[in-house]
Amino acid sequence: MDGSIDGSIVLFGPPGAGKGTQAGRIVKLTGKPAVSTGDILRAAVVAGTDLGMSAKGFMDVGELVPDEVIIGLIAERLEADDAVRGVLFDGYPRTIAQAESLENVAKVSNVISIEVPDDEIVERIVGRRMDPETGDIYHIKFKPASNKIQSRLIQRKDDNESTVRNRLAAYHVQTAPLADWYDERGLLSRVDGTRSIADVGNDIASKLST
Ligand code: AP5
Repeated sequence: MDGSIDGSIVLFGPPGAGKGTQAGRIVKLTGKPAVSTGDILRAAVVAGTDLGMSAKGFMDVGELVPDEVIIGLIAERLEADDAVRGVLFDGYPRTIAQAESLENVAKVSNVISIEVPDDEIVERIVGRRMDPETGDIYHIKFKPASNKIQSRLIQRKDDNESTVRNRLAAYHVQTAPLADWYDERGLLSRVDGTRSIADVGNDIASKLST
């Protein structure tokens, strides 16, 4: 395919930085579909597919799923009609090998790095709750859900303190070097992710419009 899909955006950052939270607004702004490797993998685990079975063990302990599994998954997703004008990647690529492979199938125009220090990440992840009906993301303190939907919210299996520490370690060793990799290519914009959800979103929107 050789980089045939133009104009994709990468949302980059540590676990809990707010990638999923901001993705909805960027989808509305750009019209590009969100492609979250984490969501695709979790759906595969629930469906009990071969992909899900090979990914589950890694996800449960907070390690990255092997590159060859992820690269195959993305190649298949980018075959869909809605990917033709580029997509919003959430949580992909996460290694230099994934980024190099992506260059063969899609051209990235912007990489938004949402930056949050480790000590804030653990509180965000442990307090995160998900709405299984809508996919909406909440937080018990920072973004509480209404009373009406409280009872149906779930907590991700990997959202516990020990797994978060492993996910952060994987991020620093395997994923963080990608920021410099994209910076060297003139594609990286850094966003301070410690502000309110609205302020982070406004900053991302302004970076995408310039
Ligand atoms: P994945 O699902 O991608 O998880 P992640 O990268 O760890 O990211 P999260 O979903 O935890 O965080 P987020 O940045 O989306 O934060 P959110 O918006 O929810 O991956 C899961 C696993 O799948 C990996 O561990 C790995 O095993 C595997 N995997 C996936 N992709 C892979 C790949 N490419 N290669 C290999 N393996 C892969 O926000 C977090 C919380 O904070 C929420 O409660 C939210 O309400 C709150 N919040 C958000 N913004 C703010 C703010 N500004 N202020 C206060 N609170 C906020």
